[in-house]
Amino acid sequence: MKRKYSPKLSLFPLTKEVDEYGHLHIGGCDCVELAKEYGTPLYVFDEVTIRAKCQEFQNEFTKRYPNTLIIYASKAFLNPALAIIFKEQGLGLDVVSGGEISVAQSVDFPKERVYFHGNNKTVDELRLSLDWGIGRIVVDNLYELELLNTLASARRIKQGILLRINPGVDPHTHRHTTTGVLESKFGFPLVAGQASAAVAQSLAAPNLDLKGFHFHLGSPILKTSPFELAIDLIFRFAKEMEADYGFQLNEFSPGGGFAVKYTIDSETPSVADYAEAITVMVINLANELKLPHPKLIIEPGRAIVAQAGVALYTVGSIKEIPGRRKYICVDGGIGDNIRPALYDAKYEAIVANKASESNSKVVTIAGRYCESGDILAREISLPTVLPGDIIAMPTGGAYAIPMASNYNLVPRPAIVMVKDGKARLIRKRESYQDLLRLDLI
Ligand code: LLP
Repeated sequence: MKRKYSPKLSLFPLTKEVDEYGHLHIGGCDCVELAKEYGTPLYVFDEVTIRAKCQEFQNEFTKRYPNTLIIYASKAFLNPALAIIFKEQGLGLDVVSGGEISVAQSVDFPKERVYFHGNNKTVDELRLSLDWGIGRIVVDNLYELELLNTLASARRIKQGILLRINPGVDPHTHRHTTTGVLESKFGFPLVAGQASAAVAQSLAAPNLDLKGFHFHLGSPILKTSPFELAIDLIFRFAKEMEADYGFQLNEFSPGGGFAVKYTIDSETPSVADYAEAITVMVINLANELKLPHPKLIIEPGRAIVAQAGVALYTVGSIKEIPGRRKYICVDGGIGDNIRPALYDAKYEAIVANKASESNSKVVTIAGRYCESGDILAREISLPTVLPGDIIAMPTGGAYAIPMASNYNLVPRPAIVMVKDGKARLIRKRESYQDLLRLDLI
């Protein structure tokens, strides 16, 4: 097999190859054959890439700061097949709903490594997590603090918690994915004394065991400086809380938000850059302020799965508006990937059955949904595209499938996991019966 490394291919999973017919292969499987066998739209996940990313996070952090736990942010995409991989790799899980907890339970995920987040966890979800014996609950607000203490008291347990602190640091992400600024709905703001009131109340709650602090600034964060700024604020706050209430920072999480390359010209810090910036700050501040070196909890979602996932679509109609734009219309779109419409997210694409042809045309890839905003990639260069060609979009592994919908009552795609030349279905394509399953007359 001939290997080609055109710049766009660098965005694809680690196992990508192009064969002598110009077909893209992932995990030893021909994407054109996968599209034939499973239909399109199809999401292909490369197991080797997912495992390599888990290891990269573990290595880069633990070699600098051994007492680190990497927990995968399930919201980026979780199903049982992925949860098993994270369990085997020794990661923990960040969950935000009863649904995500049930996936973790379905694979008997080690519950002590599961952290429950969210700004409005329901009573049922809190009960479910306490009854399961979940590792940590990351408390977001005073209502939750009181409720949780009552629920834990009824069960005669002392639940380990972290407080989510809002440090008021702008990570300069898209406004929909910024969480660390003052007006955000997440966490206890450092200003106005709300965070210190939460510490006092947690320490006084007989059924809560306050282990430390958490923050999450937003996603994706393209520089390391917002992390550094926020860590500084949180450690100084921890010192104050030690003086005021005898609080001990035993655990600390700077959240997730690690960026990935969606396009070849995007510049993002490496995992090593993030690890260096975060661990140096933690070590220096703990030393300077004479605080214990806390257990560090890192929550990557996107950076673990984005590169591992490739979306395959079949080209249907092609429309040229002279002097304006050429549309290549595919059989997916906003229903399986809302990110371009919602965040103006940029994606690249290649033609999976013409992967060694050079790019000669600038085209726009449009979806099949009844929305003008249903555009997957604007003005990208591709070889000449014909109906029936297979479009492969890289970095499709994060936040596409979990945000998918049945808009226009289009069934959601199938997902396959590939490894060593074998593909296995990890989610079936939805059928029309599935769409009607819950409706009543
Ligand atoms: N920890 C917490 C508390 C979070 O809220 C998030 C993401 C993460 C970790 C993981 O962030 P990551 O490492 O994946 O960037 N739907 C948006 C992203 C929303 C992220 C929400 N929270 C998108 O498609 O870009």
